[in-house]
Amino acid sequence: MFTALKTLHSEVCGEDIVDLFKKNPDRAEDFSVRFETLLFDYSKTRISAKVRTALTGLCEDRKVAAKREAMFEGGQINETEQRAVLHTALRDPDGPELLVDGEDIRAPLRQTLERMEKLAADVRSGVMQGPGGAFTDVVNIGIGGSDLGPVMATLALAPYHDGPRCQFVSNVDGAHIHDILQRLDPQTTLVIVASKTFTTIETMTNAATARRWVEAGGGDPAQQFLALSTSEEETAAFGIPRKHVFGFEDWVGGRYSVWGPIGLSLMLAVGPENFRAFLAGAKAMDDHFRSAPWQQNMPVMLALTGIWHRQVCSHPTRAVLPYDQRLRRLPAYLQQLEMESNGKMVAMDGTVLPYPSGPVVWGEPGTNGQHAFYQLLHQGTSVIPAEFLVAAQGHEPELAHHHKLLVANCLAQSEALMRGRSLEEACALMRAKGYEGAELERQARHRVFPGNRPSTTLVYPKLTPYVLGQIIALYEHRVFVEGVILGINSFDQWGVELGKELANTLAPLLAGEKSADGKDGSTRALLDYVRSAGG
Ligand code: F6P
Repeated sequence: MFTALKTLHSEVCGEDIVDLFKKNPDRAEDFSVRFETLLFDYSKTRISAKVRTALTGLCEDRKVAAKREAMFEGGQINETEQRAVLHTALRDPDGPELLVDGEDIRAPLRQTLERMEKLAADVRSGVMQGPGGAFTDVVNIGIGGSDLGPVMATLALAPYHDGPRCQFVSNVDGAHIHDILQRLDPQTTLVIVASKTFTTIETMTNAATARRWVEAGGGDPAQQFLALSTSEEETAAFGIPRKHVFGFEDWVGGRYSVWGPIGLSLMLAVGPENFRAFLAGAKAMDDHFRSAPWQQNMPVMLALTGIWHRQVCSHPTRAVLPYDQRLRRLPAYLQQLEMESNGKMVAMDGTVLPYPSGPVVWGEPGTNGQHAFYQLLHQGTSVIPAEFLVAAQGHEPELAHHHKLLVANCLAQSEALMRGRSLEEACALMRAKGYEGAELERQARHRVFPGNRPSTTLVYPKLTPYVLGQIIALYEHRVFVEGVILGINSFDQWGVELGKELANTLAPLLAGEKSADGKDGSTRALLDYVRSAGG
């Protein structure tokens, strides 16, 4: 499928990206997309007009438009789980009738959102309290999509926090819940158990520990526990009263669930109005994604740069580099969104993919990353496409000089990756420092930057709830488009199952309840070590 693009790649791969700007002074404008207040710049890549035409041609060949409509209209596009994929409906509760299995889903969505808003208002105003008085803290217990979305968004919107403090417990490592609960009051803490299935072992173990902690501290689980889940049966079995359960349907995938009940901790932190603005930003991106022509369509062009770098140029990883400290969990969030969605080796029809799946996604906020791994980005032997994100303004006017430095660093990095520094330039630098002859050249070689390292930059005015909604929906749709082009199911996650099953078989072995005879030598030796070391 990528043959024509690979031929084009061999034609453009020798070009200096800097020269592309000399040949086309309008390149920055031509190779960027604007939507509302956002600017996505992909001009610092080797994508040419011809390459772009071939890339957008993939959208036609792979019927992206029809599949996109099937998603928005509730088609069962998650074919391996026979489910619709309708997280977009969560941010459009007032939209027109939308039928799933013959039932309109908008009215129940509205009711759930309104119940969440009522609860959030009651908690925030102190109408709903714990035995010790108004809730001071919220602990969201969940993992994967039931954690990463809420924690990422709650951290991102810190300037809007005016509700109880929110903490997040995900890891089954007891250290996580221990370190959080020890700072809290068991009588004024609201515990949210967030789990689509309500059977995830980590979450249920942490939830049981939290319940014991509340009981031991004189609290009342009946008053202090909420459940966010698709399973009425499991939440009832755990003992959470119905009025404290916020349900959703199986057509909301875990990693796409922050827009509904799973986002309750965010709503408690920032208030219902800001949560609505977050939904509205995402809805605006949905409308843009559904209607803009390929070349002016931000999620589509973001996806096509991804396809270009991974499947055509063969770069196996992609760095996500938010120059925004409050987006520090965005890389982790995107790891799940992108890698759990598109890290698949078979196509929808079960055949083995004849090309690579989605890339490894990783990153850290700037400028911190600059002092850690950017060395490799600039001079390592692998090319790693970088995706920068930065706001024009911060939230601290009194610290505007910090923000200017932050932006300067972000722009400097993409410029440096592109321009590099030639041996000649490095020699001139070393000559100016007094070096000569062979030593001059030896020293200069260490200071050469190959340049031509591609990057994209997403710029937004300020990280408001609305803008955050736009950004997250942008990435969701990017993943969708990449998945459709690759022909895979972006909405299942069978690859996480085997490890879970084996963990269940290992627990009794660790407890010494069963013999480890059936296990391989390495696993047996590791078990022996842990047991002999007191585990
Ligand atoms: O292990 C993967 C996964 O199934 C994710 O897809 C999901 O977000 C996470 O576990 C948590 O699942 P649940 O919300 O059902 O507890």
